[in-house]
Amino acid sequence: MAKVAFIGLGVMGYPMAGHLRVKGGHDLTVYNRTAAKAEKWVAQFGGNAATTPAQAADGADYVFCCVGNDDDLRSVTTGKAGAFEALKAGAVFIDNTTASADVARELDAAATAVGAHFIDAPVSGGQAGAENGVLTVMCGGQADIFERAKPVIDAYARMVGLMGPAGSGQLTKMVNQICIAGLVQGLAEGIHFGKKSGLDIEAVIDVISKGAAGSWQMENRHKTMNAGKYDFGFAVDWMRKDLDIVLAEARHNGARLPVTALVDQFYAEVQSLGGKRWDTSSLLARLEK
Ligand SMILES: NC(=O)c1ccc[n+]([C@@H]2O[C@H](COP(=O)([O-])OP(=O)(O)OC[C@H]3O[C@@H](n4cnc5c(N)ncnc54)[C@H](OP(=O)(O)O)[C@@H]3O)[C@@H](O)[C@H]2O)c1
Repeated sequence: MAKVAFIGLGVMGYPMAGHLRVKGGHDLTVYNRTAAKAEKWVAQFGGNAATTPAQAADGADYVFCCVGNDDDLRSVTTGKAGAFEALKAGAVFIDNTTASADVARELDAAATAVGAHFIDAPVSGGQAGAENGVLTVMCGGQADIFERAKPVIDAYARMVGLMGPAGSGQLTKMVNQICIAGLVQGLAEGIHFGKKSGLDIEAVIDVISKGAAGSWQMENRHKTMNAGKYDFGFAVDWMRKDLDIVLAEARHNGARLPVTALVDQFYAEVQSLGGKRWDTSSLLARLEK
């Protein structure tokens, strides 16, 4: 049983912290900007609520974090009353936010400066994956620190991999988002075409999902896409944040991502249709408007 802090009890962080408490059996202190969520979490799982990230991190062996973007992350770490003010020597800060590789390297240096360690650990698997404790976790950091942290991370994960030094977890998550962007557009076009052709989409997917076109998105999203339902899942706003990070990194490393850049613009159109909080499968709504 370790002393664990969790910062950011959103859609993802709330259940992830819950698994660290229940499955991991750890002693948890949680912090959330909107205090009511932290109080609700403590009422449900026990443990303590802190009033600042620094207070949460004070004395913790492992400090987890899952906030929105780079700026949010800086604010709860190196900002005023941020966790890094209180990180004890040898503590491991594990960041589950989807953020840039640059901020991961920056925080790795800041953690090292106070005698602590940093692992960037973005996740894939969505809200359901977080609630069921079966996320895929892509880590960047030192091998010995990763080996120490992995059994703790396991509480909310099905797959935890070390991809390389700090920043490598975020770069891997970028590959994940690049693959999803093009794939969802392809799926949207396939369903759109099938409907225009008068085919029974359920029957079509039933057959083709067993062949080379099958995918997680096809399996888990075709029914709701066919029904035009998007008020759930991974929000378009979040996807655009992720693609912004991807495209900035590509400008830096010279990768050519024409389809990803195009799909990002399609998502901008979905946002203007009122779909900021719609699931990413809403690329079909744009074709049907
Ligand atoms: N949702 C998904 O399916 C999914 C899947 C994979 C990865 N992710 C990534 O996981 C991260 C979190 O996503 P989520 O869906 O859990 O988001 P969310 O529900 O909006 O939660 C965001 C959390 O961060 C906190 N926060 C944001 N800015 C902050 C700041 N400046 N200072 C302090 N706290 C701050 C929020 O506090 P308040 O409660 O006060 O707002 C909230 O606890 C994102 O990077 C997202 O891209 C999400």
